[in-house]
Amino acid sequence: MDHHLHYAVIDIHRVTAYCGSSCVFRDFSLTLEAGSSIAIIGPNGSGKTTLMKLLSRDLYPVADPGSHIRIFGKEQWNVWDLRTRLGIVSHDLQHNYLSGAGGIQVILSGIYASIDTWQNQQFSTADLQKAEAIMENLGIGALKHRAFGAMSTGQQRRCLLGRALINNPEALLLDEPTTGLDLRSTFQYIETLRQLLKSGKTVILVTHHIHEIPPEIQRVVLIKEGRIVNDGNKVDVLTSKSLSDLFDYSLQVISLNGYFQVVPDTEDSTFMRTTVNF
Ligand SMILES: Nc1ncnc2c1ncn2[C@@H]1O[C@H](COP(=O)(O)OP(=O)(O)OP(=O)(O)O)[C@@H](O)[C@H]1O
Ligand SMILES: [Mg+2]
Repeated sequence: MDHHLHYAVIDIHRVTAYCGSSCVFRDFSLTLEAGSSIAIIGPNGSGKTTLMKLLSRDLYPVADPGSHIRIFGKEQWNVWDLRTRLGIVSHDLQHNYLSGAGGIQVILSGIYASIDTWQNQQFSTADLQKAEAIMENLGIGALKHRAFGAMSTGQQRRCLLGRALINNPEALLLDEPTTGLDLRSTFQYIETLRQLLKSGKTVILVTHHIHEIPPEIQRVVLIKEGRIVNDGNKVDVLTSKSLSDLFDYSLQVISLNGYFQVVPDTEDSTFMRTTVNF
């Protein structure tokens, strides 16, 4: 699959980056080959969103001839071109999105990577049909004319995923995409992700919810204070020990049906025997 793509989707090499006055990354490197996907886990403030912003070029690293960020094999990008090739869903985007934009406009705005649609932008009948089909697929067909600000959190997230998908992007950058979704919406969202993963899309998923890592994502990267502390196969990385170390909190990992979940490592014997939940 995709064997004509011999470049890495992402190649971050020895990058230093600041957010305001804080140095978030120093000598940071990460590579992701075409056709593969990763989940990124780490405590609050460890640099996950900053990493996403480096990829979407909302933030630039410190200029240094010994370092680079190549995306799809290229270092120089027109940011709008780049963003149409990366499907991005983030809290910032949801927060900044114009509340008056209707559902269908939100989806269409992905074509130009803009916020809402504007009169000078041209949309073909095919674009409209595609946007409508995406909305149907995501279960938000009834929200075409609902204002973004009048949608629930989960409906907004789905709209933003639709916006991210309209260009059929080569890679999806998802920063905590399921925050605020109920269990059903979460797992429907993950089901959509699984289909995309099976079709060979690259997904870069940042999440605090271990149980939301789709079984298809095999590689997990743990980051702490701007450093990669663990990077490898999910089974080797998501251990009770490594997650306890990552969060400085005693945790236990359990796994079922290709999914993982984390619970506190309790020594309270009252609950030790409760292994079946009704
Ligand atoms: N605009 C800013 N000015 C100064 N420091 C910032 C700014 N934005 C982020 N930071 C700092 O950069 C570091 C990394 O933040 P980042 O948002 O990447 O963390 P994160 O891993 O996404 O955390 P979370 O899990 O809470 O989303 C934090 O220490 C944060 O305080
Ligand atoms: Mg973040």
